[in-house]
Amino acid sequence: MVLFKLQAALCCTMMMIHLCLGPVPKPRNPDNQNLSKKIIPDDYMREIRPPTPGGEPVVVDFSIRIVDINSINVEDMDFRMDMFLKQQWTDARIRIPEEMFEYKDDSITLPSQFVDSLWQPDLYFLSSKVVEIATLTHKFSSVTLYRNKTIMYSARMHAIVACQMEFYHYPMDTQICPVSVESFSYNNKKMLLHWTEPGVTISPELKLLQYNILQPLELHETHVFTAEKNGNFSRLVVLLKFERQIGHHLIQTFAPSTLVVVLSWFSFWLELDAIPARVTLLVTCLLTLVTMFTGLRTDIPAVAYVKALDLWMAGCMVSVFASLGEFVIVKVLQGKYLLLKQKENERSMTSAIAPWNNELSHRKRGSNLSYIKFDRRDCVKLYWKTEKGKIKIMWKEIDRVSRIVFPVLFFITSALYWTVLIVGSRYVET
Ligand SMILES: *[C@@H]1O[C@H](CO)[C@@H](O)[C@H](O)[C@H]1NC(C)=O
Ligand SMILES: *[C@@H]1O[C@H](CO)[C@@H](O)[C@H](O)[C@H]1NC(C)=O
Ligand SMILES: *[C@@H]1O[C@H](CO)[C@@H](O)[C@H](O)[C@H]1NC(C)=O
Repeated sequence: MVLFKLQAALCCTMMMIHLCLGPVPKPRNPDNQNLSKKIIPDDYMREIRPPTPGGEPVVVDFSIRIVDINSINVEDMDFRMDMFLKQQWTDARIRIPEEMFEYKDDSITLPSQFVDSLWQPDLYFLSSKVVEIATLTHKFSSVTLYRNKTIMYSARMHAIVACQMEFYHYPMDTQICPVSVESFSYNNKKMLLHWTEPGVTISPELKLLQYNILQPLELHETHVFTAEKNGNFSRLVVLLKFERQIGHHLIQTFAPSTLVVVLSWFSFWLELDAIPARVTLLVTCLLTLVTMFTGLRTDIPAVAYVKALDLWMAGCMVSVFASLGEFVIVKVLQGKYLLLKQKENERSMTSAIAPWNNELSHRKRGSNLSYIKFDRRDCVKLYWKTEKGKIKIMWKEIDRVSRIVFPVLFFITSALYWTVLIVGSRYVET
């Protein structure tokens, strides 16, 4: 009986204990709503910009750290930028209870959702193509409140930014891409944007495959009249300058095409009897250049104007083509020269025979005269004698002169080309 009572009592206590512990007490973790209530007064309206003494514009400090730039897309004329953004402004309406600051701290960091209950500057990237990304709200973000009521909002985000590209100096071109930030609804009487030190920085680890980013970056703070929004707006601009690295094109284009041109000069040393050899060499050179030129077109989109690279390739082709032309001229002159030589031989033979066959010699002489006339009309000397009595043959001389003139002309033209290109591309950059 006693045992039963004891058991019942035990059971009862256990039940009571269970009842007491049953609902596990929630950890005293102030959730967001409560926190907002503590910091933000009841009459706070997040749609209205922070009050400023004398109704002056709210100053928003802005800075960007570029972590990555990738896929510079010449087809669509845009590039993707991964970055950390920092915006900072002062809202005198918030009140931060003293007990919130940890010992010796000047600020508290809050989760990013908290920013939703605050007024935020409505900044956007002017030239961004992907609008959702450019609205400056993102998962990876945080809010820091300072004792002096400054709010700092930082976020990691990415944007696809449009950039108008020009390829006149391709492949030594420099693309200048302005990235602009502006408030959408507050004109410059209501809000001013300001670059904070250090403005825009680029992660030192950042390496681009085909470009160098020219440093230091140019930063501007401007006021621009926007007709669509009918007002003057404060605007922040950073100019990103992408300078194409020439190395790839030196190896892929300039070196091989130069070699092909040099190869075409070797034809000047080949004998004229070797017609197949000379023609094959030159035509192969020409075809190689044409193939190379066609292959280059896949690198950048077809543009309506002439690029620097087109000029180079055209120059190379003209050079090889001229070698081919030179061959044809030399071949024709050689043919005429041989014919003339043959006739002269015949004439000397007929004059030797003349005493025996008068009639024939008359006819032959007449024909000889006509050949000489023909040559005079052409105004081309097929051969001549120098003062020292050496016989110079025209077609051989042309080949000999070409061996020097072609390379010299090519080097002078190349030197001019590179000078103009380098000076021109520097001029665009500045
Ligand atoms: C908010 O905080 C107060 C104390 O400041 C507390 O009594 C209340 O239960 C909290 N509300 C919520 C929803 O956590
Ligand atoms: C408030 O304090 C922070 C940190 O010390 C500082 O960066 C910011 O400029 C201050 N804001 C104002 C308006 O003085
Ligand atoms: C914008 O600024 C210009 C000069 O800075 C001024 O003439 C013009 O009236 C301004 N426009 C507006 C809408 O404030």
